[in-house]
Amino acid sequence: MRIETDPLAVQREALARRARGQRVGFVPTMGFLHDGHASLFDQARPDCDWLVASIYVNPLQFGPTEDLAQYPRDPDGDAARCAAHGVDLLFMPPLLYDADHSTQVRVDGLTDGLCGRDRPTHFQGVTTVVARLFGLVQPHIAVFGEKDYQQLAVIRRMVRDLAMPIDVRGGPLVRDHDGLALSSRNAYLSPDLRRRALSLHRALFAMQAACASGETDVSALLALGHGLIDSDGFDYLEIRDATDLRPLTAVTGPARAFTAARYGRTRLIDNVSLAAPTAEAG
Ligand code: PAJ
Repeated sequence: MRIETDPLAVQREALARRARGQRVGFVPTMGFLHDGHASLFDQARPDCDWLVASIYVNPLQFGPTEDLAQYPRDPDGDAARCAAHGVDLLFMPPLLYDADHSTQVRVDGLTDGLCGRDRPTHFQGVTTVVARLFGLVQPHIAVFGEKDYQQLAVIRRMVRDLAMPIDVRGGPLVRDHDGLALSSRNAYLSPDLRRRALSLHRALFAMQAACASGETDVSALLALGHGLIDSDGFDYLEIRDATDLRPLTAVTGPARAFTAARYGRTRLIDNVSLAAPTAEAG
């Protein structure tokens, strides 16, 4: 595995490989990598000749009161994990934007609710950096985790709307042994906060189970979930269509339950799929 810090060197190599007929795979990250990130490398690896991972803590997607300065970092551990999971090039730019960078990419609608309500500039920061990374890495395939399900939907929409010739794939959410969704931000949690944070996935799983056994009314499912979440900084619990993220009143097709809550100064998110039982085929 090679480490590259120069954005234009990555683009030159990507274009040369594409010209030789190679397939380029890409997994963008902000580092402090865990098994969730590694699962995305594993998913991309068999379908590409050249696998690029990037690590860049993107200032554009952090709000003024968020954890940009404290975001956890472990460059050596990250490089070892990338190498162990078949990454060919680890792209770690110290700077990604020109000083006079002036282009923003904004996806409307999909970014209004869920995490967009509390973090109004977040998704514009994500789409702006991902568009730039796509221009540099020139991937055929890019893999994003369902842990950030709204982000995945927003990236898919950007790629469709801007006609980018990229196959965007989603990777399943990976959980820790106790069920907590793996996140670089879990490093901030004290044992007590972590114990309380387990209520997030327990509530979502209870809603998933209730839906599978026939409770399709969204208000009833949300009431069940609300009763189980232990947080003093609760952000949202919602059920939305799995594809276009429109709010639902009943689960009639593929749906998703989403939650976000704060534990101390750490904001965690989680989501699960919801499916009503299908009628038995006669
Ligand atoms: P980051 O939070 O580092 O996540 C990088 C990728 O790993 C994202 O696609 C995310 O959904 C995925 N991921 C994180 N935890 C996961 C888990 N437990 N299971 C499965 N996948 C998981 O998301 C970002 O960085 C940034 O917004 C980025 C896209 C890099 C743009 O800056």
